[in-house]
Amino acid sequence: MARMSAAPPPPSTDWREEIAPDEDDRFTRHAETLRELQRSNDKRSGKGRGLHRKGHVGVEGSFEVLDGLPEELRVGLATTPTKYRALVRFSNGGPVHQGDGKPDIRGIAIKLLGVPGKKIIAGMEDAVTQDLLAIHMAYGPFRGPDEFVGFVQAARSPALALPRLIGRFGFGGALKMLRGFLKGVGKPPPTLATMSFFSGLPLRWGEYAAKFVLQPVAGVGDAATDSKGDDRLRADLGARLARAAMAWDFCVQLYRDAERTPIEDARVEWKPDVAPLVKVARLTLPVQDVASPRGVALTKWLEQLSFDPWHALEEHRPLGALMRARNQAYRLSTLERGAAGEPAADSQPPGA
Ligand code: HEM
Repeated sequence: MARMSAAPPPPSTDWREEIAPDEDDRFTRHAETLRELQRSNDKRSGKGRGLHRKGHVGVEGSFEVLDGLPEELRVGLATTPTKYRALVRFSNGGPVHQGDGKPDIRGIAIKLLGVPGKKIIAGMEDAVTQDLLAIHMAYGPFRGPDEFVGFVQAARSPALALPRLIGRFGFGGALKMLRGFLKGVGKPPPTLATMSFFSGLPLRWGEYAAKFVLQPVAGVGDAATDSKGDDRLRADLGARLARAAMAWDFCVQLYRDAERTPIEDARVEWKPDVAPLVKVARLTLPVQDVASPRGVALTKWLEQLSFDPWHALEEHRPLGALMRARNQAYRLSTLERGAAGEPAADSQPPGA
């Protein structure tokens, strides 16, 4: 007899954050640890981001919210069908510049412009931006910020990483973390155009909690290039965008229950059969010349800007300890490198 697959449980608004009494101080120390690392890496390559230092290209496009969304998704940035201007920075996750042939996390940072509504960060309430940050891993080996920052610190020197991790998390814990990380990172990709990107961590979606996934739209891989060298990902994105547009579906999955879609434990993947992906918007990068004067100015501008999950509407407040730790880490990294302020809806790259 054929097995019937169980219907997914309904979305629930019954999610909870668990906020530890000491976490503010702990997260400040974590942010400072990352800043120390950033400062020491600045000595090698000049001022730059604490993590995701190597940007491939900065490009522009649109983010179009679809019509006819289910009611529970029609909130915040997706309240009405709208086409936002989008600035997009592709990056490697590491704290230093390294060749794209090395295993690393790959990131996409999207800044939507012209988003009305009060934003979360004090002093930036009237910003018109909503940022969406994602990496190519759906979930990670880190339960929380202590593990995350401990790992980043240990990985400073690959040769010493394992003994340092063992010293901090014990043999079993260290091995599990390292294995999980290497498995998630996978083989260096030939292109970012055909990759999916995941928020990995939850954020509010109105009364609900959600994660999001960017799925490449079928057909974007047709324009394959054969780029080589340390900056192959930049070369590949540039060559593709010179010939054809690229697009990703922005899909949202809603919280179901504490066990299968936890808020605090980032190691648990929200499986699509439990929390189905619903298409909410489409990110499109039209044909553009990244080597033109405007393309070069755009990349330079996006290097100077700050992409931050807390650049957000209250309806999209980041959730969970790792997200709360990011609230301090991104601000300190941004301050340290003297990043530019939030752009206006019609801001253009300086000098373009
Ligand atoms: C799944 C979880 C995470 C994702 C998806 C993610 C994604 C990203 C991305 C895409 C960027 C590059 C932004 C840009 O292009 O400007 C970035 C930068 C950064 N991330 Fe994360 N990240 C995660 C977790 C964390 C955590 C837990 C911390 C620290 C507690 C952290 C600290 C940083 C810092 C310091 C930067 C540089 C910020 C700047 O100077 O602009 N990230 N992250």
